[in-house]
Amino acid sequence: MQLKKFNLIVNTKACIFNKIISVDSDKSISIRSFLIASISQNLSTVFNVLESDDVISAIKCLEDLGVKIKKQKFKKYLIYGNGLGSLIAKKNIKLNFGNSGTLARLLIGILSTTPKIEINVAGDQSLNRRSMEKLKILMSKFGASFSPKAKSNFPLKMISSEMPVGLNYSSGVSAQLKSAVILAALNSYGKTKIFEKEKSRDHTENMLLHNSNVINIQNRKNKKVIIINGKKQLKPININVPGDPSSAAFFVALTLLNRKSSLKIKNVGLNKTRTGFYQILKKQKAQIKFLNIKKINNEPRGDIIVKSCKIKPIKTDKSFYVNSTDEYPILFAMAALINGTSIFKGIGELVNKESNRIVEMQKILKQIGVKSRFSKGILKIFGKGMINASNKRVIVPSLGDHRICMSSFVLAVLTGAQFQINNFETVYTSAPSFLKIMKLIGMHFEIQS
Ligand code: S3P
Repeated sequence: MQLKKFNLIVNTKACIFNKIISVDSDKSISIRSFLIASISQNLSTVFNVLESDDVISAIKCLEDLGVKIKKQKFKKYLIYGNGLGSLIAKKNIKLNFGNSGTLARLLIGILSTTPKIEINVAGDQSLNRRSMEKLKILMSKFGASFSPKAKSNFPLKMISSEMPVGLNYSSGVSAQLKSAVILAALNSYGKTKIFEKEKSRDHTENMLLHNSNVINIQNRKNKKVIIINGKKQLKPININVPGDPSSAAFFVALTLLNRKSSLKIKNVGLNKTRTGFYQILKKQKAQIKFLNIKKINNEPRGDIIVKSCKIKPIKTDKSFYVNSTDEYPILFAMAALINGTSIFKGIGELVNKESNRIVEMQKILKQIGVKSRFSKGILKIFGKGMINASNKRVIVPSLGDHRICMSSFVLAVLTGAQFQINNFETVYTSAPSFLKIMKLIGMHFEIQS
């Protein structure tokens, strides 16, 4: 895709809408399906793939590493896996992860224990700013090495382990790090045990579960323990990717705060490790329902029904961090337009996302006249209710952060403020249909190239 850069001008208030929509497919599941299929044996098939820039970066990296991937028809892909340890790095090869932290961390997980990998890795400007220190430390424990040693961000050079051996790891809030360890463990000798100190999204485990000789999940004192038996080949996968609950969140937020509107969003992934946004809002009296729930590929999915209504200020503690990680920018935007003080606790990790999501959202809220305060991992937003900000002009700089762009769009149409959102093309990393759907439900905007 790699669209031309463009700015978006939004200065028209939202109209009333009542529609049925589908959102873009899940990014986490799409990326994982290509990675896992590539190291499984034989032919894997993935349906309803998200064709976004992050997923295209994943396909490109895997092709650079010798994997044959064929697009069959609309959103259906065939992946010809050659088994564990089969990825090949040609001499002087450079891998580019684009904007995707998930791709970077998970693929480095795989490569760390793939024989004879010597590779230069980098991303776009936003990814190159993010710390990879924790990943470097973890993969070094499997025997991989990185240079320069003192540098924690990309570009980096990595050399894989010659003799990877399984290890014990206590995982924290990051699903990317947990997944990197699981994937590195697959081609290591012996067992790896991952003790989930904090719950995090579990798509990687779910996608491997049909290999009962490889992965075993136990529950010890209410905490999950994942046991990986290394060096056992994986069976191919056959995945149908559901809609992305994180992409749906922007349409849900807009519907809730708009006047007299409603949406049915079909076929959205409803894995509990991803639906914190919905749980938080339901607690504050939001009219959100999940219908027609079924499980496919170990992942629940269903339709979301949402209606405009009055919502109480949002209060979240640390336990919500992992299941609403990517929804904080839109929650902050909502908090600004709900009357009263919203409080978000335990969100310190947001500083290492595609941008520093706390500071950047605070700057945007300030421009529409909403005050906020951040200290000791707690953000307070002093919401003003549904303000009319049509006299305000807001500029959102180029941050390479799709979720800040989409949150800004929602703020613009709800407040009537004149927003100029720079480099809006970054939204194509996760939600290539965002503008098309906004147009379908009646929103107005102007593209400025
Ligand atoms: C992701 C995990 C989250 C999330 C990211 C996608 C994943 O990051 O923010 O957008 O696919 O595993 P961390 O769990 O590493 O914080």
